[in-house]
Amino acid sequence: MTKLLLRALAGETLPTPPIWMMRQAGRYLPEYRATRAQAGDFLSLCYNPELAAEVTLQPIRRFDFDAAILFADILLVPQALGADLWFVTGEGPRLSTITSAADLARLKPADQIDDRLSPIYQTVGILSRELPSQTTLIGFAGAPWTVATYMVAGRGTKDQGPAHRFMAEDRAAFSTLIDLITDATIHYLSRQIEAGAEVVKLFDSWAGSLKGADFDDFAITPAKRIIAALKARHPQTPIIAFPREAGDRYVGFAEATGADCVALDNSVSVEWATRNVQVSGCVQGNLDPRHMVTGGPELVAEAQRITRTLRGGPHIFNLGHGITPDADPDNVARMIEAVRSA
Ligand code: CP3
Repeated sequence: MTKLLLRALAGETLPTPPIWMMRQAGRYLPEYRATRAQAGDFLSLCYNPELAAEVTLQPIRRFDFDAAILFADILLVPQALGADLWFVTGEGPRLSTITSAADLARLKPADQIDDRLSPIYQTVGILSRELPSQTTLIGFAGAPWTVATYMVAGRGTKDQGPAHRFMAEDRAAFSTLIDLITDATIHYLSRQIEAGAEVVKLFDSWAGSLKGADFDDFAITPAKRIIAALKARHPQTPIIAFPREAGDRYVGFAEATGADCVALDNSVSVEWATRNVQVSGCVQGNLDPRHMVTGGPELVAEAQRITRTLRGGPHIFNLGHGITPDADPDNVARMIEAVRSA
């Protein structure tokens, strides 16, 4: 029997949607915090195949999700390209910055990233052997624009100002950076698929700050190039795209990029999505992650409303963004029960 998540991605309308959750392996789980402490820090955990596989499996054991997502981070690709990367506790990631063509010239070629990233492929290999037979393994990477915003600014930013400034000052050099990340992403995701990832997801967390032609050039074009290259090598592997906060640019995004599924953030109304996005194929989403903190009858009502509204077409249930560290694990169990009984 084909796995539930793969059936939804093939375009099947199901009575109960498959469920998984962004950041399902994370700090809201005590067992995650214990394994992370054992590894030392977050990056050591990402690069330790045994422990990274262990934290990937923890939410599967606890909640029986339909999918497991590889434990890693989108910023490992810039690190593999030669950027320095570290995490500041309570603040987030820091990287050495890329602000000129000269900085760009010091990065490594896209096909040399495996020196750093081979432990990630080992994690995928362990997971493809150890996951329950009904659970789908999802690999992932950051989309080029989102990765570039961190590489240019050297950190997370509210409005992605530094990347927008680089784009405005030297569009050709900025495009070179996007092309390099695009090539590295094709290589990285191909290796994940070869190691056993059954689905891959592209996280474009900051797609919402691209407008007009910039959205076409830096959200659609790189995604289209990545998806075409992956489909040429691995035609059976479905691809989920997450152009977060794309708003009306969600319309036609699947057709424009070739993605098998488009993930919706929680600013999108599901009624609107049935008419404008689900007509193109599978959609994923989109419960507001704050319900994992607040719980109560609103959580159940909202999870069931989303499930019932999207029931007329292919749907994967998920949050609209990652679960936060202050979430209550009991609310995750309540969400799953609400969706499966809707
Ligand atoms: O979803 C999963 O469980 C898979 C693993 C995963 C992580 N990060 C683990 C992680 C995935 C898919 C990501 C993607 C990621 N990483 C994105 C895109 C998705 C999104 O959230 O918008 C981005 C922008 C990053 C970069 C990143 N990594 C930031 C900004 C931070 C700090 C924010 C925070 O929550 O502390 C991280 C750290 C990170 N990545 C953690 C985890 C579990 C927390 C690290 C810790 O244990 O302290």
